[in-house]
Amino acid sequence: MNKIKSGIYGLNSLLDGGLNENSATVVIGCSGAGKTTLATQFIRRGLEMGQEGIFVSLDENKEQIIKEAIQMGWKKIVDYIDEEKLVFIDASGHEFSAFIKRELPSFVADWKGANARISIDPLTPVMWSTSDRYEQRELIGFMLKETRKVGTVLATLEEHGTSGDLSGNETVIPMYLADCVIHLKSIHTPEGGLQRRLKIMKCRSSRHSKMEHQYSIVKGLGLVVNPENSSLTPSREVPDRFKQILHEKKGSVPARVIARLTEVLEDLRDDDFSEINLETLMREIIAEYEND
Ligand SMILES: Nc1ncnc2c1ncn2[C@@H]1O[C@H](COP(=O)(O)OP(=O)(O)OP(=O)(O)O)[C@@H](O)[C@H]1O
Ligand SMILES: [Mg+2]
Repeated sequence: MNKIKSGIYGLNSLLDGGLNENSATVVIGCSGAGKTTLATQFIRRGLEMGQEGIFVSLDENKEQIIKEAIQMGWKKIVDYIDEEKLVFIDASGHEFSAFIKRELPSFVADWKGANARISIDPLTPVMWSTSDRYEQRELIGFMLKETRKVGTVLATLEEHGTSGDLSGNETVIPMYLADCVIHLKSIHTPEGGLQRRLKIMKCRSSRHSKMEHQYSIVKGLGLVVNPENSSLTPSREVPDRFKQILHEKKGSVPARVIARLTEVLEDLRDDDFSEINLETLMREIIAEYEND
């Protein structure tokens, strides 16, 4: 998987280097969590690297987003728009749903292979454009499948329930269909303060941190994530130790299994074993093949 830099300081190391190219990420958060800011940072980073940007806005109008981006310190946004490197699609939920159904394939044909970055902010009104769950799933699934052909997609999703509850229909469907899911949590402390935490719920075809990480929204920088306490490390002490254990037990396991596991271990790191007891694993491997 080719990794691309997200544009959010502190996030790439939690995703083992960045977002997977041509993947679809869903960012879930309540009002004020920083979804639009993050979607803008993601596009900005792509433009800096010569990629094109497509910003699909279903909530705020183009002028409002530009104004907020400038306030966040991104004055150059107007140049990218003038140069037509950054394209805005200003739509409501119903209009965008009709666009997905009728015009998306020809739009994709025009842009195919463009390696753009596409932000959809927020996806929620698209979900609301129909109450039929099957249709919602078809619509979002089709949209993600098609837009991934144009580049790397980041869609935001509003969190309406009590903070942390992502079981509602309108969050669950996009979460299943996305390749990567990031939850922006806002926690109100008893003292009346607000703590912001980011958690990667899933990331297909990538290692990722399983922890919650504090983040801030800073003028000029946007979202800044504190990657400390990430379970991801480059160290390989545990797989090396397991290789040793395998070697010691090689009389109890078929040679072909030893060969395959030795090869697999080359790609693993300490964080892959964070919840695994090596002795128990070895015992289970021996039991699995004892009658082969
Ligand atoms: N210029 C700024 N300086 C400092 N902080 C800012 C600035 N602009 C926005 N913020 C912070 O970012 C938050 C809003 O971020 P953003 O608009 O990205 O949230 P959102 O998740 O898109 O919200 P909504 O769901 O309401 O659209 C504000 O509540 C504020 O804390
Ligand atoms: Mg917003």
